[in-house]
Amino acid sequence: MNSQNNISSCAPIGIFDSGFGGMTVARAIAKALPHESIIYVGDSARCPYGPRKLSEVDGFVQQIGGWLVDQGVKMLVIACNTATAAGLVHAQQTFPVPVIGVVEPGARAAAQTTKNKRVGVIATKATVESNAYTDAIRHIDAGITVFSTATPRFVEIAEQGIRMAEGPIEDYTSLASKVYVRPAFQEIAREYLEPLRRCDIDTLVLGCTHFPLLKALIGSVVGRDVTLISSAAEAAKDVAEILTRQGTLAADDQLPTYEFFTTGENTEEFKSFGSRAFRQPIEHVTSISFD
Ligand code: DGL
Repeated sequence: MNSQNNISSCAPIGIFDSGFGGMTVARAIAKALPHESIIYVGDSARCPYGPRKLSEVDGFVQQIGGWLVDQGVKMLVIACNTATAAGLVHAQQTFPVPVIGVVEPGARAAAQTTKNKRVGVIATKATVESNAYTDAIRHIDAGITVFSTATPRFVEIAEQGIRMAEGPIEDYTSLASKVYVRPAFQEIAREYLEPLRRCDIDTLVLGCTHFPLLKALIGSVVGRDVTLISSAAEAAKDVAEILTRQGTLAADDQLPTYEFFTTGENTEEFKSFGSRAFRQPIEHVTSISFD
């Protein structure tokens, strides 16, 4: 128990996204911090967030974050770029526990990686229109030029692929896999990414938590000279740092528990896709509603 703020180190970390995308972040956190318990909420009933107004998504962040705080989480991770852009600051002002998003960690990784100071960002329409990545990257290094493009169909492709594929996620996100590297998807990817390639970027931020699933597809178009950045591992480092500072890291002998909730109707589907994205079998998914 942390004496300063009464937050228990045994308490879980609350993580949420519009669907499965945030599982890529949950997985990185579980890998980096194997003793931490997690409560994950996938708001599948209202996915995608990308085409919605930021004010509406901010409302979702308040609802889901509030619910997770009521479950007793010791910190919140908004594992969705769109929701981070829409609601991070409001959430930090509202909730009594630390809240992080995924934009700042991705921006930091991009700023550390770029050599020629030309960074591309692909994200949902809402994230691109919010300028969250441009602002975050240029806040770190105003000498970096940021080129952003909305790639809304990538969310749809990521979800289609996860439905077509079987087995662990690495089998279909690897360069050898043909799940995402197929002509129809490549044509869409070329249309989105060729203009960015012509901007001579050396670093590309996958500014949507669905996009790490498309690494092979995106890499096949932008080529090996462009480094792909996903926020997941950086976000996990931020979680570790905050819990350490707060004195609420789980003890080394704590057995973690993982609880999954979805607003979608199909808990079986969530369990099956989620297990592959989280890379651990998910035994149970509970349905919840915020309406
Ligand atoms: N995973 C969400 C993000 O990171 C995007 C998916 C959606 O549009 O809901 O922005």
